[in-house]
Amino acid sequence: MFNIIVTDNYDQASSEAFKIMRDVLRKENPVLGLATGSSPVGLYKKMIADHNTNGTSYKNVITFNLDEYIGIPKTHDQSYYTFMHENLFDHIDIPEENTHVPVGETDNPEEECAKYEEELQKYTIDIQVLGIGSDGHIAFNEPGTPFDSLTHVMELEEQTRRDNARFFDDNIDLVPTHAVTMGLASIMRAKKIIMIATGANKADAVYDMIKGQKSTDCPASILQDHDDVTIILDKEAATRIK
Ligand code: GLP
Repeated sequence: MFNIIVTDNYDQASSEAFKIMRDVLRKENPVLGLATGSSPVGLYKKMIADHNTNGTSYKNVITFNLDEYIGIPKTHDQSYYTFMHENLFDHIDIPEENTHVPVGETDNPEEECAKYEEELQKYTIDIQVLGIGSDGHIAFNEPGTPFDSLTHVMELEEQTRRDNARFFDDNIDLVPTHAVTMGLASIMRAKKIIMIATGANKADAVYDMIKGQKSTDCPASILQDHDDVTIILDKEAATRIK
């Protein structure tokens, strides 16, 4: 069963997510699963503010990111490596070696996937942060991805590339066609999951995830099988589940 929190706006959604994150950060050596995209940025801002104001330290925190584009260098301004540094890592005291972002800049992405999964399996993620794609994807697991998938290479759907074109000068041709992504089974190993979904363009995917039949047509519907998922929405994303 999902714990569903409907908030008035994005800032409130970020605050609700932060409350759950804060409890996990009180643990001794927390392992965080982190996401990119617009949805978690407000949460990361609150984590940075809390670090600055209350001195919450990340020296003993380990992080694993969900995914990375293939075919752009990690120094590219739209790589997820860059995203994480700009939106979180550069503003907290986490040692670089404690952070893991899949490597997409490689001639052998399959090998990178195997290496990433091997490292990931050494840990149990205490809290996994997720967003959702408008086609129901989580991380970059597009519709049709098997529920038992581990870290793998994914060809991106046109809808996903169109959604993400806003970060690439509104030009879909500049959006990479493939990505390395944690698989659905990799994500399900997390002890606790929080999903942030806001805005009207997420309403259908949110409905399919919560009320739809569990099916690979909506990869996020696999979360129905997890026993600790909190879904944090704004009113727009929640319109169809009422
Ligand atoms: C991207 C990411 C996902 C993210 C999703 C939604 O494609 N790979 O991890 O959850 O899209 O992004 P946003 O939060 O910007 O709507």
